[in-house]
Amino acid sequence: MSRVQAIELVYLFCAVCFIVALKGLSSPRSARLGNIIGAVGMTVAVGATFATPGLHRIVLIIVALVVGTAVGVPAARAVKMTAVPQMVAAFNGVGGGAAALVSLAEFDRGHASFGTAAAVLFSTLIGAASFTGSAITFAKLQELMTGRPVVLPRQRDINVALGVTAVALIAWGLSDRSVTAAVLLTLVAGVMGVLFVLPVGGADVPVVISLLNSFTGLAVAATGAVLRTTLLIVAGTLVGASGTLLTRMMSQAMGRPLSNTLFGALTASASTAAAVDEGGDRSVRTGTVDDVAVLLAYAQRVVVVPGYGLAVAQAQHTIRELADLLESRGVEVIYGIHPVAGRMPGHMNVLLAEANVPYEQLREMDEVNPQLPQTDVVLVVGANDVVNPAARDSPGSPIYGMPILNVDEARAVVFLKRSMRPGFAGIDNALLYDPKTTMLFGDAKDTLTALVSAVKAA
Ligand code: TAP
Repeated sequence: MSRVQAIELVYLFCAVCFIVALKGLSSPRSARLGNIIGAVGMTVAVGATFATPGLHRIVLIIVALVVGTAVGVPAARAVKMTAVPQMVAAFNGVGGGAAALVSLAEFDRGHASFGTAAAVLFSTLIGAASFTGSAITFAKLQELMTGRPVVLPRQRDINVALGVTAVALIAWGLSDRSVTAAVLLTLVAGVMGVLFVLPVGGADVPVVISLLNSFTGLAVAATGAVLRTTLLIVAGTLVGASGTLLTRMMSQAMGRPLSNTLFGALTASASTAAAVDEGGDRSVRTGTVDDVAVLLAYAQRVVVVPGYGLAVAQAQHTIRELADLLESRGVEVIYGIHPVAGRMPGHMNVLLAEANVPYEQLREMDEVNPQLPQTDVVLVVGANDVVNPAARDSPGSPIYGMPILNVDEARAVVFLKRSMRPGFAGIDNALLYDPKTTMLFGDAKDTLTALVSAVKAA
């Protein structure tokens, strides 16, 4: 067996690792193992690459590896869980940019076949758009810029002009194998990436990150075709396919077609904007920790609905403590998990797993909803949009159509949040003003800690 064949065999092993890793990531129980298997596959792949015959500039490659590791490892370790979406955006953008640059560098070596030229141009187009688009999603989520949709004057015309220019550059690049065309295409694609993401509102940015992730995968697969590296083609295709599936699933969970998420602001009508504020000067009922402790302690069934605020407050351990305490007093406690609660898929599952909340207590939305009319108290901890009845009842609302947890059907609802501020979608929630709702204002962790003491005393 030649060295090249041996490397191909190792790459096959790595590809299998990536597939097994993805399978593992599909369930919280096996996710950690899946992650480790993926990391082993990637480490072996990088190691095997060093054995490639005729590899040049090894010192430069090692320097790049050291720099990447020195930046990536501390960043991934230090990142708060609530900031993972922007970290994914940043890493994803760098991947897309790298794919585009590697393809460009290969094109520069000249004499490309038609197929290679097509792969280079595809990779630069998608990779560059993914790079700049991801940079904008990062800026939006990190609040370096407004999270609201930004639409430039005559943006539709600009988009069409950019699209036509990109097609012309691709035609030029294919016919003349022109490196200049490829470089210009990279620049145009970069502008397209920015304009693609600017009109997307904050609440939809995680969906766009997932879509850009699939773009990066496709760019990497195309770069694999340029370099004739099977492993890159396989890995890129896996990322492209899984990113596409995840994007679809998120759009479905939000009850909106992807086209509406991406282009909604460009086609927005006055009626959508008008639906936003219905708060007016209606009164809300604020309660005390002692009132709520009594309500909870004498309930038969309590459903906890966690949301983004639970993650911000890092109150997962305290909510578990409260649930354990209630269970020891004979109260049935379950957690109602909405598929897009938080800021990333599986956010609540991961958060609650951190506090060792038993999986049996976690119930998906479809399972919980029929039980809500027989529920004494719903404790909404840092959630808002995912329980907003406007999604069900107000056709003009921006979140209309998103399936929600129908907590307004329970006998009593308690909201733990800091203020009357809206959730990620930026819209008012009529349930906060409902007579059966009690507001417990404050940081979720502080309120839950006080609730634990009050339930012990009740
Ligand atoms: P949100 O609707 O964003 O509501 C979170 C609430 O938490 C806010 O109203 C906030 O109110 C409260 N909060 C923040 N920090 C808090 C703290 N320290 N203590 C107590 N409360 C705190 O969250 P949600 O209900 O989880 O909904 C998720 C949103 O993200 C949806 O709009 C969804 O469409 C969007 N989204 C999610 C995903 C995925 S995959 N998860 C993907 C795309 C979009 P105060 O400021 O008053 O405290």
